[in-house]
Amino acid sequence: MEILGVDIGGTGIKGAPVDTATGQLTAERYRLPTPIPATPEAMSATVAQVAEHFNWKGMVGCGFPAAVREGQVLNASNIAKSWLGQNAQKLFAKATGCAVTVANDADAAGYAEMQFGAGRDFNGIVLIITLGTGIGTALFVQGQLVPNLELGHIEINGKEAEKWTAAIVREKKQLSWKKWAGRLDIYLTHMQSYLWPDLIIVGGGVSQKHDKFLPLLTLETRVVPAQMRNEAGIVGAALVAQQAL
Ligand code: BGC
Repeated sequence: MEILGVDIGGTGIKGAPVDTATGQLTAERYRLPTPIPATPEAMSATVAQVAEHFNWKGMVGCGFPAAVREGQVLNASNIAKSWLGQNAQKLFAKATGCAVTVANDADAAGYAEMQFGAGRDFNGIVLIITLGTGIGTALFVQGQLVPNLELGHIEINGKEAEKWTAAIVREKKQLSWKKWAGRLDIYLTHMQSYLWPDLIIVGGGVSQKHDKFLPLLTLETRVVPAQMRNEAGIVGAALVAQQAL
């Protein structure tokens, strides 16, 4: 079955039709910048533009950069505060004219990695970390998701972790790979000592350059790069929509 997967991030909104049986994109992905400010109205219009690009009339699954319960946005770090209490699912359904599901972006990417990527056939406790504009976290216990885990917001030395370790911080502050990897190491060591996962999967665009930072990490837990790379968010959003059917 084909579902339009839309990965809504703090910087870009990317979509493509996904064959949910294989996890493959069936057309080239289409990307638009996330509007600034990222308000409900502006983001809904951008999601609608992505659906229009594919002339889409079917089901749409969205990954959204916030905790989301039954379509309702519960927090707002990298999106406009006016999202708080809004129902993203209803707004996107209205804007696209399609049936829409909305889930947290890291949860969506996690599903894709567990089904088709680095967590495939792995049955223990898996923590997926997405490094981008923010830090997203998703925990799978024997294949079962614990939704809306928001561990990018823990404090380390009085600083919010995602403001210190997200991939965008390395770019903005022009940190060396070594310096940034040192921060990531501290962050992941905290994750290790809170959750003791069997496997940590590191995703987000920066995971394509994993050879620059994964070898510098010192924690005991096995850390591997995401295999779906940039497509995990899109594929996972479609998988979440399929589950809702
Ligand atoms: C949000 C999370 C999201 C992550 C990655 C954080 O700021 O609170 O919900 O998964 O960014 O986009």
